[in-house]
Amino acid sequence: MVKKALMTPKIISFSGKGGVGKSTLLIMLLKYVLETKKFKNVLVIDADPDANVADIIGEEITFEQTIGGKMTVLKDKITKRQIPLDVPKNQIIESEVFDSLIERNDFDIIEMGRSEGSGCYCSVNNTLKHVIDVLAENYELVLIDAPAGLEYFARKTGKDVTDLVIVTDASKMGLHTTSRIVEVTKEVELDFQNIWILGNKFPTEMEQVLKEKADKITDKRVKFLGIVPYDEEVSKFNLMGENLLKISNNNPLYASVSKYYAKIL
Ligand SMILES: Nc1ncnc2c1ncn2[C@@H]1O[C@H](COP(=O)(O)OP(=O)(O)OP(=O)(O)O)[C@@H](O)[C@H]1O
Ligand SMILES: [Mg+2]
Repeated sequence: MVKKALMTPKIISFSGKGGVGKSTLLIMLLKYVLETKKFKNVLVIDADPDANVADIIGEEITFEQTIGGKMTVLKDKITKRQIPLDVPKNQIIESEVFDSLIERNDFDIIEMGRSEGSGCYCSVNNTLKHVIDVLAENYELVLIDAPAGLEYFARKTGKDVTDLVIVTDASKMGLHTTSRIVEVTKEVELDFQNIWILGNKFPTEMEQVLKEKADKITDKRVKFLGIVPYDEEVSKFNLMGENLLKISNNNPLYASVSKYYAKIL
């Protein structure tokens, strides 16, 4: 069951261009948190409708278990007038949110999924705000795998996401998306305490390029975190469908991100 402790959580969201390694680095952060036992209650919100964080940790989650799946059923019930009229809609959604929670021994996970049929996840995106508001206070730490697009940022949640990690690879588009995301956070007045820039699959000799780019962004919330290398073992884990949380603590990528994550937490 959900622990009703009512806390102000630390909320860390990962963003960046498609395929740069957001989900991978989020799971590495989860591994770090579980290893160091820094936080007792941890929630992972997979807000990306396309790629499942669950896949990376070898967890099978059916569409019916996702928020999108639950909302589809709910919409159907409303159309068929199977919902009692005297129950407030928010209360119904809230109960569906708690129902979608997948509880594991050491952390919980919630998959936003996609709203079926329409091919659009905007309604799920709206529900995301609600999910964060309803669930976050039960946890000490919330990690959000944000969709590759920027839609998520256009909706401010009641709870402030304290940290944003923007992941980029060593590409012009990756860097462009990074600057764009920082711009969008200003436009929609999102109150991040820190915006961290993390280079992934980055050649060591390119570090300075990213650092200079980060320094050029005149926003005091923006901090250059560092770069991490391409790692064959990580790539293999993904290809073979192995649980990334089980990668060795001596893995070079894990070792180098751990150093950075100690700064964020
Ligand atoms: N440092 C790394 N070394 C080797 N492979 C990596 C590294 N980081 C990520 N990958 C691989 O790159 C691919 C994309 O990574 P990932 O799914 O984490 O990216 P993403 O940004 O979450 O993508 P999407 O935008 O599709 O959600 C995966 O195959 C993953 O295993
Ligand atoms: Mg992803």
